[in-house]
Amino acid sequence: MSTTGQVIKCKAAVAWEPGKPLSIEDVEVAPPKVHEVRIKVVATGVCHTDWVNLYETGKGMKFRPFPLVLGHEAAGVVESVGPEVTNFSPGDKVIPLFLPQCFDCDRCRSPKTNLCKKNWENAQVGILADGTSRISCNGQQVYQFLGVSSFSQYTVLSDASLAKIRDDAPLDKVYLLGCGVSTGYGAVVNTGKVEKDSLCAVFGLGAVGLAAIMGCQIAGAKRIIGIDINPDKFEKAREFGATECVNPKEHSRNIQEVLVEMTNGGVDYAFECVGSPAVMTAALESTIDAWGMCVIVGWTETEAMNVVVEKILMGRTLTGTYFGGWKSVQEVPKLVDDYMKKKLKLDEFITHKLPLDQINKAFDLLKLGQSIRALINLWPEENNPKVA
Ligand code: APR
Ligand code: ZN
Repeated sequence: MSTTGQVIKCKAAVAWEPGKPLSIEDVEVAPPKVHEVRIKVVATGVCHTDWVNLYETGKGMKFRPFPLVLGHEAAGVVESVGPEVTNFSPGDKVIPLFLPQCFDCDRCRSPKTNLCKKNWENAQVGILADGTSRISCNGQQVYQFLGVSSFSQYTVLSDASLAKIRDDAPLDKVYLLGCGVSTGYGAVVNTGKVEKDSLCAVFGLGAVGLAAIMGCQIAGAKRIIGIDINPDKFEKAREFGATECVNPKEHSRNIQEVLVEMTNGGVDYAFECVGSPAVMTAALESTIDAWGMCVIVGWTETEAMNVVVEKILMGRTLTGTYFGGWKSVQEVPKLVDDYMKKKLKLDEFITHKLPLDQINKAFDLLKLGQSIRALINLWPEENNPKVA
């Protein structure tokens, strides 16, 4: 039976309040409105940013309204499209985008940035363009995280927040291009623009840092130094291309001093993939004067951004990146092509596979540093959606 135009009843992991585990609920997903697309989510990952929004909201973190369906790193298939949607049809494979590309705002028209402004404020407070969400539970509105909400078997997004990808792309791998991998890789190739034979340091060896290492290797860096306080991350980092790994806990001096000594003056490029103000300072201080560049990739909302101004005066550049600088709608499909051509690694990031009802375990694994990425299978046994 066709579900087009009908409310779909399905499962979702709902965050009822900050600091509490997610609970699996029956939710109702309304049909798409003007310029919206409803998708069946086939694969989703659990990202650090989902965890932070659940467990640190209210602790110095910007408030996001609850109840909320988290999840923003995903891949799926178009189920139906709303009025005036011209670029998508049912059956298309897609990657949801927490950073849209509308092709129309001043940011989209500029080649200098990928920070499209469309629906930005709405996405931050969990609603779509008309000021409401399409997901509800027992009649109560459930907010949509960053305009996506992939911890639901179905969700509705703006048609500017979806990249259409090739039909032969494996969704249970390319979902990684919806956030962490594109971010770390793009930080190196788009934002840092690392050249051949560079000296690079990557702070934090989670999915974002590993993707940055992959980018440094593809760019032909001579030395790629991976830094993490958890030495269990080193083996994988070497697999991705790190030439050396350093644990700051094994040194009595600051990590920046260690790196400056190891490289006779500092690295050409440092990538902060942790999201800690202290590590940001260390990363900047580990770069060489005259041309060193520090790219902030890890995301934080704390105020303690302790930037060392003199370091920048001496010819260094400190810069930031959001979603790796990719113009999302246009460039995510090209990243999928690069994966299909085996230029990019993706399979190696997936360390665990769990069904939706074990999603809280995926958070625990990430927090304990035991996983890189856990793939959440939303459809444990294939069953067709119910019409409410
Ligand atoms: N120095 C070095 N490494 C550290 C430090 C530190 N002081 N503190 C934590 N780390 C390491 C952790 O041990 C972990 O391996 O940083 C890594 C972070 O990895 P994940 O938690 O898996 O996070 P990831 O998904 O890679 O995201 C990293 O980017 O997009 C942002 O919000 C995201 O801020 C987060 C960052
Ligand atoms: Zn735009």
